[in-house]
Amino acid sequence: MDILEIDLIVTDIVRRVSDVIDGVFDLEIENKGAYTDLVTRADKEVEAFISQKLRENFPDAQILGEETWDENKEYSTDKLFVIDPIDGTTNFVKQKKDYCTIVTYFEDGKAQLSYIYDIVGDVLYSLIRDKGFFIDGLLQDPPENLGLKDSIASLDLKRLWGQEIVEEILKGCFAPRILGSAGLEGVRIARGQIGVYVNKYAGPWDFSAYYLMAKELGLHLSDLNGNPLDPTKKSNFIISTKAIAKDLGLD
Ligand code: 2AM
Ligand code: CA
Repeated sequence: MDILEIDLIVTDIVRRVSDVIDGVFDLEIENKGAYTDLVTRADKEVEAFISQKLRENFPDAQILGEETWDENKEYSTDKLFVIDPIDGTTNFVKQKKDYCTIVTYFEDGKAQLSYIYDIVGDVLYSLIRDKGFFIDGLLQDPPENLGLKDSIASLDLKRLWGQEIVEEILKGCFAPRILGSAGLEGVRIARGQIGVYVNKYAGPWDFSAYYLMAKELGLHLSDLNGNPLDPTKKSNFIISTKAIAKDLGLD
């Protein structure tokens, strides 16, 4: 199927997520082992909804979703959908804003389509390979390539505390601002609002949309040593302007 045909179908599925969440009356908040690693009935229902719709429309594709991920399974990026049903579950539970759904489609080993749906704002950010970055369907210009001293930086400070890169970024940046949703932090970089975001031990669902952000908008994406990320494995990551990657000795 043509990528633009796939785009139409997935756009329709992702935009229906807010109705799925509205239909969940008891959130049944639990933790996934660690006290601060939350999951709710909404995370599970959204993943089940998206997975079912994708299976109906794309029976040949594999699905890698956060809530059903099997660490021991081999996933192939030949035809693969990666889903984070609610990215920013802590924000969802404690702040009722700044959370999103992320879906990325890989084919022939490459990211082809990515969606970051800001559920409260009802804004759909999308990326289409070789076509660019869109907000509610409108093509956007790439962000300015600012260096660290002129950029706002976001880091998952609690998880990254003690790492050398934290001190380097905090000392060198214009100012820090943390949102707490990997998808929406990526969007802030894509829009030129912040220059760098770093997180540790993130899942493939957290960073799946960054591949096309990097490619379409000329951004830097790597692990904390400057190496490429495996789209099916957990990893530390940094996404930033190319100028910041240079400032940090990663590019
Ligand atoms: P989540 O809400 O889908 O779990 C918050 O700093 C960001 O980090 C969110 O995108 C969040 O995604 C992600 N995150 C939450 N817990 C995490 C963990 N234990 N390891 C890595 N990333 C995590
Ligand atoms: Ca999640």
